[in-house]
Amino acid sequence: MGGAIEGERERDVTEIQTDTNSSEMDLDAVFITLLLSAVFSSSARRQYVFVQRSVNCTKAQLYCRQNYIDLATVSNSADVTELLRVTSGSSDWGFWIGLMKSPSSEWRWSLGDPAFYTKRDSLYRNWAPNQTISSLNCAYMNQDGLWRIDDCTTQRVFICYNDSSKGFIPVLQTMSWRSAQSFCRAIHADLTSVRNQNENQLIQQVMNTNGVNSAWIGLFRDPWEWSDKSPSSFRNWVPSEPNGLLEDATVMMNSGQRRGQWEDWPCNSSFPFVCEYDDQFTLIKQNLSWAEAMRYCRQHHVDLVSVLSEQIEQRVMNVARNALTPAVWLGLHHFCAMNMWLWLLGDVVCYQNWATGDGNGPKDCSRERRVGAMQTAGDQSWISLPPTRELNFICYNYED
Ligand SMILES: *[C@@H]1O[C@H](CO)[C@@H](O)[C@H](O)[C@H]1NC(C)=O
Ligand SMILES: *[C@@H]1O[C@H](CO)[C@@H](O)[C@H](O)[C@H]1NC(C)=O
Ligand SMILES: *[C@@H]1O[C@H](CO)[C@@H](O)[C@H](O)[C@H]1NC(C)=O
Ligand SMILES: *[C@@H]1O[C@H](CO)[C@@H](O)[C@H](O)[C@H]1NC(C)=O
Ligand SMILES: *[C@@H]1O[C@H](CO)[C@@H](O)[C@H](O)[C@H]1NC(C)=O
Repeated sequence: MGGAIEGERERDVTEIQTDTNSSEMDLDAVFITLLLSAVFSSSARRQYVFVQRSVNCTKAQLYCRQNYIDLATVSNSADVTELLRVTSGSSDWGFWIGLMKSPSSEWRWSLGDPAFYTKRDSLYRNWAPNQTISSLNCAYMNQDGLWRIDDCTTQRVFICYNDSSKGFIPVLQTMSWRSAQSFCRAIHADLTSVRNQNENQLIQQVMNTNGVNSAWIGLFRDPWEWSDKSPSSFRNWVPSEPNGLLEDATVMMNSGQRRGQWEDWPCNSSFPFVCEYDDQFTLIKQNLSWAEAMRYCRQHHVDLVSVLSEQIEQRVMNVARNALTPAVWLGLHHFCAMNMWLWLLGDVVCYQNWATGDGNGPKDCSRERRVGAMQTAGDQSWISLPPTRELNFICYNYED
């Protein structure tokens, strides 16, 4: 397809990956360190690289985003093991991972099933005045029926909701909010939601009948988010952590008994850090036409990426988010003779994620060509564009 595109130019196509542009970040030595001594992870999918230079968390995040994908997300205990492997041999006490406190986290119910809530009743709230303390993240109901915020580790009794009987079950045993949640879930229920004034009164009655002054309900917020926006709720905090009002970033410990566990630290502290990358997909931060991009990928990698499944889509989205253009080229082109979209791998487009209204191909495709790109922000859905547009693009390095 490439030969049909006009205006191809030869360019000095040096990958940005080898051009770290470090002056801005004052991290000149880092890339050399990487080449000489960094330990690369070899497990499939999410790959880690340890950057052995102590910087604050914003600098670490910026560096990872410029050179890889992001600071490391840790989704399970296998990831913990892998991180410890990649950082073993370092004498550093700990290192930054990608878990950070977000200033704008929202309150949610433990019982997340949307079918449980009609209209806006997942948004019903009955807060006592002045409940704005930002570091405390679990809600309890007082005997006055009003809700207050407390530290989730506080021990108090709690109310489960039995979905079979539709009943509110008081549990007169004190527990932290999380243990209470586990307890309720283990009896095929959940910490109770409160969907309206009527339920609020019923729960208040249950509390008064049982002489309970205050009880956990299922409302909580988790201000901690992964830097790469991964939804993983895996946490490996040291039991007394997180505990700091001003501690908004996460360090995984690399020594002692708590090796592998996490502590919250102020972002302005200095630690080495671990970035994540995807060795199968590489973002090229150059603005090239679609045909030039394809040619570049074929010379230096394998080809422009084909997104054949939702799993690949997720990984390509992660890579695409660091692009410097509003969209990145995919190996997606409209085949006029059959009026269909094809991947460069040859496949017809089955899995798809077109932006609403897009993906139909040009009106007169004998005169006008279209190729496909993934948007780099928002929902990152696909858009069709003329191939002469100049965008960053994603190459793949091997097939599964
Ligand atoms: C709530 O905060 C306001 C202003 O900060 C204060 O005037 C008021 O007394 C507080 N109310 C309660 C119940 O603490
Ligand atoms: C939940 O309700 C069902 C049906 O009424 C009942 O059989 C079960 O014992 C209840 N569970 C608890 C923990 O109360
Ligand atoms: C991190 O360091 C950079 C430059 O050294 C500085 O501009 C930035 O404010 C620091 N961030 C924090 C949170 O300390
Ligand atoms: C980090 O910031 C806090 C408060 O802004 C300050 O007290 C502390 O000294 C700073 N620490 C470092 C290592 O810069
Ligand atoms: C690439 O395009 C983006 C916007 O589309 C622009 O901000 C950036 O400066 C361009 N980069 C180069 C190297 O031309």
